[in-house]
Amino acid sequence: MIRDIESVWQSVPAIEGAGVYLKRVFGNAQVPKLDPFLLLDDFSSTKPVDYLAGFPWHPHRGIETVTYMVKGKVTHEDSLGNKGTINSGDVQWMTAGSGIIHQEMPQESERMMGFQLWVNLPSLRKMMAPRYQDVGRGEIPEVDYKGALVRVIAGSVGNVKGPVQDLVVAPEYIDVSLEPLSTFQHPIIRGHKAFAYVIEGDGNLDQKRLVKGGEIAVFADGDDVSITAGSNGLRFILIAGKPLNEPVAWYGPIVMNTQQELVKAFEEYSSGTFIKHKPKM
Ligand code: CO
Repeated sequence: MIRDIESVWQSVPAIEGAGVYLKRVFGNAQVPKLDPFLLLDDFSSTKPVDYLAGFPWHPHRGIETVTYMVKGKVTHEDSLGNKGTINSGDVQWMTAGSGIIHQEMPQESERMMGFQLWVNLPSLRKMMAPRYQDVGRGEIPEVDYKGALVRVIAGSVGNVKGPVQDLVVAPEYIDVSLEPLSTFQHPIIRGHKAFAYVIEGDGNLDQKRLVKGGEIAVFADGDDVSITAGSNGLRFILIAGKPLNEPVAWYGPIVMNTQQELVKAFEEYSSGTFIKHKPKM
């Protein structure tokens, strides 16, 4: 059964970090509609003044943050002692688990195109040791799939598997570019939540609904998605994962199951006991 679209909306302007002007695709206000996903920010821009303030030191606990740089670059540094740059085409899949303090600073470029997704962790894994899966552009397979060019970050397309593996909610994350009027049909596990965010162009994301750049389409349950590009082609990210069906207690960059866990996290942060895993030697 082809999945229908359940709802479509436009991303909205938001200010985050130290004053980054971005577009929020979904966030706190949509919980639990996108379970197991919590947030998607689109920080694409052609004006460096929109993003240069960046995201200085801040904590995370209980979630994974996934940064995908289509174009442009972000430098990062964290409490585990990691330091580096996410370059054009790279993905950083960061599992905050019990806690990490980091900063993420977008660098000036002609055109910035990037996304940050927050993936929730189940209660049993919220306090797991933090870890990174840094994936360079060259490690992400590009599949030519019946008129579609697909970058497979996580999950699989045909028999090509993405490099990001061993994740709790079995997420799929693909970046699909479609030639004008071509169709991409792709199976998604029944019961998994799936959505597509349109980056460029427009197209029919189910049999009847036209979706444009800057809009998200959330799919109803079913088997395959069937997506047809409009006359100017279509590029979108398609993300799917297994819902957790757990209570969400969320404040700022920390997402737990209960209010008490949230209070404890902020108490630990202000008393200097937040970090459970020390820097690498
Ligand atoms: Co962060």
